[in-house]
Amino acid sequence: MIELGINIDHVATLREARKTYEPDPIWAAVEAQLGGADGITFHLREDRRHINDDDAQRLCDADVIHVKRNMELSLAEEIVAIACRLKPDQATLVPERREEVTTEGGLDLPVHGERTAEASKRLKEAGVFVSAFIDPDTDQVDAAAELGFDAVELHTGAYANAADDARQTELSRLITAGQRAVESNLRLHAGHGLNYHNTPPVAAIAEMAELNIGHAIISRAVFTGLRDAVRQMKDLI
Ligand code: PXP
Repeated sequence: MIELGINIDHVATLREARKTYEPDPIWAAVEAQLGGADGITFHLREDRRHINDDDAQRLCDADVIHVKRNMELSLAEEIVAIACRLKPDQATLVPERREEVTTEGGLDLPVHGERTAEASKRLKEAGVFVSAFIDPDTDQVDAAAELGFDAVELHTGAYANAADDARQTELSRLITAGQRAVESNLRLHAGHGLNYHNTPPVAAIAEMAELNIGHAIISRAVFTGLRDAVRQMKDLI
């Protein structure tokens, strides 16, 4: 069964629009769980534009959350130290740029190998399962295996944004990189830009173990409620 992780950052983004206390990401996590989510994903960004330190702490502490906690984080020393202290079930290392609207590309592991390996080592020593968010290229997968990651999350943004005639090419890249990850004993995850239309072909990739989806599900939840929106995506995958 493919696990579905729900990225709840947008709930905190809405709260930050008014700098108030609602909507609460913890409540969102519980609603997602009631809809059948297998995990809760959140990104503690260096600029704290949505999830803040208190959210991260409460998401990791709340005993009403029984599903996997997946914390996305950059390689910044401060954030890695927080993750080592909070000990989420899983950490997904991502690149981060202040000016980006959302995570734009994967980590370039051959380029940032040393820093990435150091962050990954510290997280693993804290007992955290560590994944790397990478573009779907075999050299990135090979680097992830060499650096000792437990999993890779393939960036599906190029596939999701591709025009109809390019989509198959992008899907093939995901399939090839996914196969290489599985051969290298890396758990296979994917995410970014997935929605109710484009997710099934990605869910059909052999040995896909986890999909992390935020924007489409939170958008649908505005109209259907989060439980239903999660349930609909679960049914789809
Ligand atoms: N996976 C990673 C590593 C991400 O950074 C994001 C976006 O925060 C997602 C998955 C979810 O992407 P989307 O919101 O487009 O579904």
